[in-house]
Amino acid sequence: MKNRNRVEDTYSGPLIQLIDIHKVYYMGTSEIYANNGIDLSINEGEFVAIIGKSGSGKSTIMNIIGALDVPTSGQYILKGKDVSKMNDNELATIRNQMIGFIFQQYNLLPKERLINNVSLPLLYSGIGSAERHERAMAALEKVGIADKYRNFPNQMSGGQQQRGAVARALITNPSLILADEPTGALDSRTSEELLTFLKQLNEEGNTIVLITHDRSVAERANRIVSIQDGKITFDGNVEEYRRQVAG
Ligand SMILES: Nc1ncnc2c1ncn2[C@@H]1O[C@H](COP(=O)(O)OP(=O)(O)O)[C@@H](O)[C@H]1O
Ligand SMILES: [Mg+2]
Repeated sequence: MKNRNRVEDTYSGPLIQLIDIHKVYYMGTSEIYANNGIDLSINEGEFVAIIGKSGSGKSTIMNIIGALDVPTSGQYILKGKDVSKMNDNELATIRNQMIGFIFQQYNLLPKERLINNVSLPLLYSGIGSAERHERAMAALEKVGIADKYRNFPNQMSGGQQQRGAVARALITNPSLILADEPTGALDSRTSEELLTFLKQLNEEGNTIVLITHDRSVAERANRIVSIQDGKITFDGNVEEYRRQVAG
């Protein structure tokens, strides 16, 4: 289990509560309704996949869950805190302290060595260099690429870069790991390794929300939420999901 020593440890409600979330994008005179009333509650320790076709509103809801954006209307409560009305600085703090991101394109800084990429979130939280180094090495050990710590991203395979991104996501001990199409750029064997590793992280107590358009990826989670035209059309376990897809 992870170290949890923050004030919000006394909070006992759901980790994530999305209440009637709407997101409208304004493009000139036209309005795009990307999320149309999303209600979703996720408890600590869950492994949830959000699945939907391209354009269904997955990235929009991920940006809201990840405190990268706020809804047009509705409420987002993360570990008891109302994130939906926060300003940019407050959102940045939430992202840094509570959320570990894994993206399709890894997003490692090309001019930084792996160890510095992994320890970067700790720099933003003002942690000194010796502790940053120690924690980054521990995170790299955990994902199995500690020997690459001095490499630059272009000296590593795609799978190794994604492991580096996972180490970076884990380093702050986040309340939530948010993965957007994390296997999108990986071959099938490397994808399999990553999904197995995410499962293991979940079994160790981490809460994971994984966004995908791929059914076989979604079925690696414990709970599947399907979204269509910005609305939830299904929410259940993998067996129920298979039955509904088949029927
Ligand atoms: N920044 C934006 N400005 C305008 N429209 C957007 C923006 N982001 C997404 N959209 C539109 O919102 C809808 C949902 O998009 P998105 O959440 O990216 O879906 P998905 O990730 O499932 O492909 C789409 O119609 C998309 O074109
Ligand atoms: Mg998307």
